[in-house]
Amino acid sequence: MAESPLSASTRQSLPTTTANPVSGSAGSGVSNADSMLPLAPYKTVGEPELRERIESVREEFGKRLLILGHHYQQDDVIAHTDLRGDSYQLSEMAASSGECRTIVFCGVHFMAETADILANTPDRLASRRGERVNVLLPDMAAGCSMADMAGIRQVEAAWADMGEVIDTEQVIPVTYINSAASLKAFCGRHGGIVCTSSNAQAVLKWAFERGQRVLFFPDQHLGRNTALTMDIGEEQMPVWDPYALELGGNSEAQIENSRVILWKGHCSVHQMFRPEHVAKFREDHPGIKILVHPECPRDVNDIADISGSTGKIINTVKAAAPGTKWAIGTELHLVNRLKAEHPEQEIHFLSPVVCMCATMYRIDLPHLCWTLENLREGNLVNQIRVDDETMKWSLIALERMLAVK
Ligand code: 13P
Ligand code: SF4
Repeated sequence: MAESPLSASTRQSLPTTTANPVSGSAGSGVSNADSMLPLAPYKTVGEPELRERIESVREEFGKRLLILGHHYQQDDVIAHTDLRGDSYQLSEMAASSGECRTIVFCGVHFMAETADILANTPDRLASRRGERVNVLLPDMAAGCSMADMAGIRQVEAAWADMGEVIDTEQVIPVTYINSAASLKAFCGRHGGIVCTSSNAQAVLKWAFERGQRVLFFPDQHLGRNTALTMDIGEEQMPVWDPYALELGGNSEAQIENSRVILWKGHCSVHQMFRPEHVAKFREDHPGIKILVHPECPRDVNDIADISGSTGKIINTVKAAAPGTKWAIGTELHLVNRLKAEHPEQEIHFLSPVVCMCATMYRIDLPHLCWTLENLREGNLVNQIRVDDETMKWSLIALERMLAVK
């Protein structure tokens, strides 16, 4: 399934950042409006020319420019990235950005925010004598519908509500990295932490060493699938619906008996994979292995052979013997790339319908070229800049995550 390209993805995450007027978002203050190259003409330039022009800017900037791409990005864009990775790897890459002074992030909004925070920590700024690494997102509409499912005011209200029933001093808030910086800051302020799909179990363990319960947001599926591997029963995982009138739709007893309170959020891409797709592949292709991302619902995750982050999915396929048969439940562009890179294996997409991250897909060659050529003109278009207060607290939660092994 394709999400609506007009998803309100950045609505909740934007207040902590700035953007520029060309993309239709709030004002930047960084760019020089007089010399700003408009986006429209780029949409009519042919692909070969766009590719050449993109490469020419890359060559000119050398190591001062770093183009990062998430594994779900389309191939045309991936071809122009310096590094690609899953959310955890991309955070580490931004944190060790070396000589670079501009990161162009071919991912989604929360990833670019994370890059801004990690590339501009007080220590790193001091080592560069105050010089920032500017992070640019080629299209501000590249958001994440899951991240939008938990807004900071909703989380604060939920925290206050549950505080009427349980001692929130004993609740460790854990936010999936797929969330606005304001939520990461909430976790930083309340003794909590960030996790990605590659370290969620280690992060939950960290949290249970510090508190009795966890509030996990925004992805209920990653939270549930991970907690189940730690012998926490589903009856101890109430789902908190931010739109319910009282206690997120739970009784006092459910909250009192909880170990992990799951936020009612999900990824609209991964929730499209169904147990019947798994059954059909097993029936039609005996011996096939089912490999899924833990953002898939429990009924799929439980019956899969392997579940893991996009990085783990890639490494699992890479390490498999020729002739291995796979049905993979994650974003379409990554599965298609794996198919092309591993002709020695038989790779299928787990769903009969198209499940792609339509917001990430908004980053295309015209937007990338427009961003880079503006950079050459001295214009920082679509700069992602987390405000200092949010930065300070979200960094605490991110650094806790990076320290968890
Ligand atoms: P990872 O890259 O951490 O596996 O996450 C997948 C995803 O949905 C990114 O939004
Ligand atoms: Fe968000 Fe899902 Fe897209 Fe990942 S795949 S960025 S969780 S909408």
